[in-house]
Amino acid sequence: PTPIIIDTDPGQDDAIAIWLAIAAREVIAIDCITAVAGNVPVAQTTANVIRILDCAGRSDLPVHRGAEAPLVVALETAEFVCGPDGLDGSGLPPPSRDADPGHAVEAIIARLRAAPAGLTLCPLGPLTNLALAMRLAPDILPKIERIVLMGGAIGLGNITPAAEFNMHVDPHAAAVVLGCGRPIVMMGLGVTLKAIATHEQIARFATLGTATGRSIHGMLTRPRPGGLGTAGHPMHDACVIAYLLWPELFAGRDCFVSVATEDGPLRGRTTIDWNGRLKRPANAHVIAEVEAHELFERMTGLLATLP
Ligand code: BDR
Ligand code: CA
Repeated sequence: PTPIIIDTDPGQDDAIAIWLAIAAREVIAIDCITAVAGNVPVAQTTANVIRILDCAGRSDLPVHRGAEAPLVVALETAEFVCGPDGLDGSGLPPPSRDADPGHAVEAIIARLRAAPAGLTLCPLGPLTNLALAMRLAPDILPKIERIVLMGGAIGLGNITPAAEFNMHVDPHAAAVVLGCGRPIVMMGLGVTLKAIATHEQIARFATLGTATGRSIHGMLTRPRPGGLGTAGHPMHDACVIAYLLWPELFAGRDCFVSVATEDGPLRGRTTIDWNGRLKRPANAHVIAEVEAHELFERMTGLLATLP
C-alpha cells in the first residue's frame, strides 16, 4: 500500500476523505494524521480527527496537533459552512483520547525522514503545516513522493469570489508549497464542484446500517441556511483520496500555478496557466474532470465496509 500523511481540518468532507482512506487499507497505508487550523480552530480539528478515527475503529492511528494560525494572516474559520464544531450533523461523540505528543510539523518532518521510500502528502486544509515543515527541514523535500492536495480553483472561488477556502486562509503557505519543486496534483474547485453527491446517493448512506454511514448521512443532510449553491453536496476533500485509488476517473493537465498572497479581493486566488501562455515550467497537475457517477459508486462501496 502507498504510505500517506493526511493533513486536515475536519470539516465534513475531510471526515469522508479520512474514512475513505481507512476503508482503502489494501491500497493506502495512513502513516499519521496531522491537524491544522482551518474550518474551525486547531484544538477542534484535532479533536475531530480523533472522533472520526474512533467511529471507524482506528483510534490507534497517530494524530498530531498542528499550526494554530496561518503563517502571516489572521485565521479565518468557516463555521457557517461546517457548523460550530466543524462536524455538524455527524452525531459523533467526544474524542476518546488526546492527540499524540509532538507537534504536527515535527511529526511530518520525522516521519518523512524515517520513511525509506518517502511518503505521499495529502493536505485537505490550509497548507500551513506543510509549508512550516518545508521551511524548517528542507532535507525532507526529496522524501515527498508527491503531494495530492485539495485547494484552488480554475474558475470562481467559494470563500470569496476569487479564492477557494484552503488557498485563501493561508496563501503564503500555499505559495511555499506550490514552489517546493515536488510533484503536485491539484484538486481544486474546477473538479470538486463536479464531484457532487446527489440526494439519491446521499440517501443511500442512511441505509448502510453503520455508524459511519449514519454520520455521513447526517452531515450531508443537515439544514444549511442559504444552501451551498449546488444541487447535491460537493465531495471536495474525498477527491484527493479517490485520486490515489482511481486516477483513471480523473483528467487534468500539467500547468504553471501561482497564488495571490497580497491582501485584497484576490487574496488566495490561484492563477492556472491552462494554455501555457506564460511559458513557465509546470508545477502542478491540475485536475479538471471526474467521472462523478462512477466515483460515487466506488466510494459508497468502500465506505460501506466500515463499522
Ligand atoms: C475546502 O474548504 C473546506 O471547507 C473543505 O473542507 C475543503 O477542504 C473546499 O474549499
Ligand atoms: Ca478541508
